[in-house]
Amino acid sequence: MVRTRRLRSSPILRELVAETRLSKEMFIYPYFVTKGNNKVEAIDAMPGISRFSADTLVKDVEAGLKSGVNKILLFGVGEDKFEDAHSSHAEHSVVADAIHALKKNFGSDLFIITDVCLCAYTTHGHCGLTSVHPHQSGKEEVLEINNDISLPVLGKMALAHVQAGADMVAPSDMMDGRVAAIRKMLDENNFVNTPIMSYSSKFASAYYGPFREAADSAPGKGDRKSYQMDLRNAREALLEAKLDEAEGADIVMVKPALAYLDIIRTVRENTMLPVACYNVSAEYSMVKAAAKAGYIDGQKIIMENMHAFARAGADIIISYHTREIFEMKWM
Ligand code: PBG
Ligand code: ZN
Repeated sequence: MVRTRRLRSSPILRELVAETRLSKEMFIYPYFVTKGNNKVEAIDAMPGISRFSADTLVKDVEAGLKSGVNKILLFGVGEDKFEDAHSSHAEHSVVADAIHALKKNFGSDLFIITDVCLCAYTTHGHCGLTSVHPHQSGKEEVLEINNDISLPVLGKMALAHVQAGADMVAPSDMMDGRVAAIRKMLDENNFVNTPIMSYSSKFASAYYGPFREAADSAPGKGDRKSYQMDLRNAREALLEAKLDEAEGADIVMVKPALAYLDIIRTVRENTMLPVACYNVSAEYSMVKAAAKAGYIDGQKIIMENMHAFARAGADIIISYHTREIFEMKWM
């Protein structure tokens, strides 16, 4: 008889034959940074996560570094919003100033990635710039998310972050051609060695709900379905990853993660690039809420989820749980 139970008979043996291993090196921790001083604003929908001003961010990052949180993803919040999103690439944007402060304090001990997207900087809250659809002018005004006029702005935003000292940029807007546009912009300014981690296969998802409260980036009107992917499409997710790779992405990403493990697997099997997954805000908040209610064992569920991402093929995990996993020594 084949006895599969033989290799399960002791903890040490189970360790020996485990097929999936997590390591701290895989994890990236997201941060929300806002204007002002001495601010730590708790985000209701994401227990344990706050918005920081640059000064308190430095303190929190310092504490996180002690347990090994050395790769962070920065989101800018609360910047003045304009139709042309020019605050996204201001020399002293909240993100740029935060990068300066972090680099001054931690240098190369900290790896800083920035989210590149216009939704927190546009009046309408969409990820690209809008224009009146030419065929509609004169009739009822229909605003469309204009792909091509958004590209140079995304390029400028990425460049501003890199000039401020960002180590990597992560475009999350889902405009076509943005990886190529950002790559060109960085190359022309001699940042040929700054990598791009692209949110390649990003679905239009209700799992971003709590984040939009955190980042104040919900679209005023309409939804993101004309640029983020239809949740029913798996082949298209691979097409998106392939296109971003062809445009020069260094790392491709699948987002959300938990309900999209099949996509992580497919992308992993079809590219030689590292694959990241984003364990998004509602995936985090749902676990937190259920654990608080006593319905689940938070630690066990969190670590089961993390292993699921790695088993599906993710090389990199972006998660709001990173800090607690490290501090509580859950791995
Ligand atoms: C901005 C952006 C979003 C997330 C990351 N970058 C929100 C969105 O697309 O609406 C979601 C992250 C999360 O839910 O944790 N485009
Ligand atoms: Zn956006």
